[in-house]
Amino acid sequence: MTDRPVETDRIPAEDLVRQHAAIADELRAAFEEVLPVGKYTLGRQLTAFEEEFAAYVGARHGIGISSGTAALHLALLALGVGPGDEVVTVPNTYVATVFAISYTGATPVFVDVDPMTSNLDPARLPEVLSEHTRVILPVHLYGQAVDIDAVRAIAPGIPILEDAAHAHGADLRGRPIGSLGEAAAFSFYPSKLLGALGDGGALTTSDDELDARIRQLRYMGQRGTKHEHLVLGFQERLDELQAAFLRVKLRHLEDQILARRRVAIRYGTLLEGSPLRPPAHDVTGRHAYYMYTVQAPRREELVAYLSERGIGTQLIYPKLVPDQDAYRDHPWRAGRLDVARSLVPTLLCLPMFAELTDAEVDRVGLAIRAFYGLD
Ligand SMILES: Cc1ncc(COP(=O)(O)O)c(C=O)c1O
Repeated sequence: MTDRPVETDRIPAEDLVRQHAAIADELRAAFEEVLPVGKYTLGRQLTAFEEEFAAYVGARHGIGISSGTAALHLALLALGVGPGDEVVTVPNTYVATVFAISYTGATPVFVDVDPMTSNLDPARLPEVLSEHTRVILPVHLYGQAVDIDAVRAIAPGIPILEDAAHAHGADLRGRPIGSLGEAAAFSFYPSKLLGALGDGGALTTSDDELDARIRQLRYMGQRGTKHEHLVLGFQERLDELQAAFLRVKLRHLEDQILARRRVAIRYGTLLEGSPLRPPAHDVTGRHAYYMYTVQAPRREELVAYLSERGIGTQLIYPKLVPDQDAYRDHPWRAGRLDVARSLVPTLLCLPMFAELTDAEVDRVGLAIRAFYGLD
């Protein structure tokens, strides 16, 4: 957050152009480093990024994967998930979380969420656990960690795969997400907290055998020896170029998160006394503010009002996954989803990115106050 003048009247919900303009020289240098080497997959940039990212999340291994979706899929396979198994997750996530379960032939089972954080509510797990539960797949939504300690206490012995696509740099009572489950899947989709210049993803784990199985699945079922394919694997590697760009951006991630947290605190002050409910701040640990998600009465009217004033917003996610047409023909099971359903029509994401100026944040906050007739 800086005080430089705003160049444009529009305040978008997110702005990758501004983010990359600030580090363009470093990104160009990364490209120049990769180009003359002549090795564009599985080279030294990937190895270095994997080590640096694993160290950042406090896990023993990092494995670069082609996307967050592929990371989830490969991790579930490596954990032994298949037909006849059930994987418990939340209904208010991106479809990729749930598609990855269905790709394996297992059945997604939806559990309800906490009304304050929108995250998996550990207290609701007993409603859905069964003798077929093979993995629990919590999603650290919007940048706030799920209480994995509570999940473990209620479901001891069941492996946990973290969907960490929203929460690079968040922590649970001081322990980084990505190191809490048996494995964690990250997305580096460009708009994520740590984003590539294209698609990308990673898995982190401290289990040596899981690491070896995932590496084998990521590259055509090979384990070291070329032309020896031991299992039916996939072509799901993270490219050298993306790894080089991600190494640059990882160096800036802490500053990005700190700037986002300052934006969140400023919004919090501006929105005091409004009927809009701001996100719960740091309830389980450090919030990384991938999204600043509020619960807003008269949401559709507010979206239109802000849009008329050049302020962009996002709905994440406007439909529960089991309500998507794709799940008419694929099996799933659920407990009662009253809380998740009640949140869908109220949730709204305000503009949130590190480069937002104080003046822009103020403009958003004051527009919301005016909409609700305050001041
Ligand atoms: C919660 C969640 N899980 C998984 C994914 C899938 O990641 P990707 O788009 O890199 O495949 C995303 C992001 O798009 C996501 O938001």
